[in-house]
Amino acid sequence: MPGALPPGSRNGSFAMQLRAAPCGALAGTVRVPGDKSISHRSLMFSAMAVGESRIEGLLEGEDVLATAHALEKLGVEVARTGEGAWTVHGVGVGGLAEPADVLDMGNAGTGARLMMGLLAGHSFTSVMTGDRSLRSRPMGRVMTPLAKMGVGFVGRSGNRLPAAIVGTRELLPITYQSPVASAQVKSAILLAGLHAQGITTVTEPLPSRDHTERMLAHMGATVTSETAPDGSLTVSITGRPELRPSSFLVPSDPSSAAFPVAAAAVAEGSRVVVEGVCVNPLRTGLFTTLMEMGAGIMEQNRRTVGGETVADLVVRGGRLEGVEVPAGRAPSMIDEYPVLSVVAALAHGTSRMRGLSELRVKESDRLATMAEGLAACGAAVEIEGDDLIVHGTGGRPVRGGVTIDAKLDHRIAMSFLVMGGIAREPVTVLGAEAILTSFPGFVERMNALGTSIAEVAA
Ligand code: S3P
Repeated sequence: MPGALPPGSRNGSFAMQLRAAPCGALAGTVRVPGDKSISHRSLMFSAMAVGESRIEGLLEGEDVLATAHALEKLGVEVARTGEGAWTVHGVGVGGLAEPADVLDMGNAGTGARLMMGLLAGHSFTSVMTGDRSLRSRPMGRVMTPLAKMGVGFVGRSGNRLPAAIVGTRELLPITYQSPVASAQVKSAILLAGLHAQGITTVTEPLPSRDHTERMLAHMGATVTSETAPDGSLTVSITGRPELRPSSFLVPSDPSSAAFPVAAAAVAEGSRVVVEGVCVNPLRTGLFTTLMEMGAGIMEQNRRTVGGETVADLVVRGGRLEGVEVPAGRAPSMIDEYPVLSVVAALAHGTSRMRGLSELRVKESDRLATMAEGLAACGAAVEIEGDDLIVHGTGGRPVRGGVTIDAKLDHRIAMSFLVMGGIAREPVTVLGAEAILTSFPGFVERMNALGTSIAEVAA
C-alpha cells in the first residue's frame, strides 16, 4: 500500500530542545520499543521470502520506517496493520524491482549497509542517500567486499553517500576476512551471498550480533557459524535458497533499555523493572559492565520470544565503582558507551573503556562528542588513543548546566538527558528529535519512572 506508511525520514528543522532537570531515585516498570537491529532485518528478510510475513512489536522509529519506505520503492508491499504490527509481501530472493527514485535511508547505517547487500544481486542500478550524519559515514567497509562479488559503485569521495549501486544477477560468492567486528558488514555480505550461486563466507575478528544468522536460518537458509580458538567468527551461507515467509515477534531493544537501566543503576535508592528485554549475549555487554561496577541488575522470567532470549531486568540503584572495559567487549555494547560514560562520571574511581575506534564512525564521532559533552558538564575525561577514560566524582553530581548539541545522534541525545537527571543543574539537548530514530516515547517512559525531562522553547 504505497503511501500508507508513516513518514520515515525527517526533512524539517533540527531545533527541538529537551531539558533534563536533576531528579531523585527512579521507580516503576517500563517496556522499551522493539529492537532496531531485528526490526530492520525482519522487514528486509520478509521481502526476500515468497509470500506474506507478519511482524509484531516492530520498532516504529524513523530508521526502520526508512527501510520500509525503501522496500516499497523496490516493489515490495509493506503494510501497517496496527501498532507495531506489519505485513510484508515478499518477492523472493532476487525479486526486487528497479526503484524509480532515490532510496533515502535517513539516519540509519544499518538500513543503508544491509540494503546494499540486498541490492547487490539485482541487475539494476539504484541510488542511495541519507541525512547529513549518514552521508558522512564510511560505506567502503561494505562496498569493498561487495565489489569483489561483482557489484559496481559510484560514490562520493571516501566512499560516502549518495552513491549509485550497480547490482548484478551474476554475483560471485566470496570468502572475506573483515577487518572490523561489524554486524552491518557481516550482514551485508551474507545478504549478497544469498543471491550468489554457491557458498559465501565471512570471518570477523570478534563475534558481532548474530540476528542475521539466526533469522535467516529460521527462514530456511543454510547458515553455519564457527568460532576459532583466536576468538574470530566465521559464518557461511548457501546462496539462492527459497526463504519461508515467517511470523516475527520483535523483542525489546537492549540498546534502548540501556537508558532506564543506567539511569536507575546510578541513582541511589532506585528500583526499576525493564520488561521483555532481548538478552542475547552478543548484546548485553553494558549490563555485564554495570554489574562489574557494583550495580544490582537481576534477570527475571527468562523466556524465548521470536527465537531470542528475553528477560525482565530488575535494577537497583546504588554505589558504582570505576571499571575497566576490555576492547573485546566492544561489539556486545557498541551503542552503549555513551550512556556508560555518563554513569562512569559519578562512579567511585576511574573508568577506562578500551579500543573504541569504531565509535568514531557511528551517527556522530561518539568518542569526541562524549568527551566534549562530559567535559562541558564538568566531568573529568580524557581520550588516550582509542580509549575513553572517565574519572568519577565518587557519587557527587557533576555541574551540568549546559546545552549539548546531539549532532544528529539519538544515543548522544538520550545519554545527556540521563546526565541532566544526575547533575547539579539541568542539561539541555539541542536536536533532541534525533531520539525518534530509535526510541519514540523516550521522554514519556523516562518521566514515568521519575526523570524530569521537558521540551523548552527554542
Ligand atoms: C547494528 C550493528 C552495529 C550497531 C548498530 C546496529 C546492526 O553496528 O552500532 O546500531 O543492526 O547490525 P556495527 O556492527 O557496524 O558496529
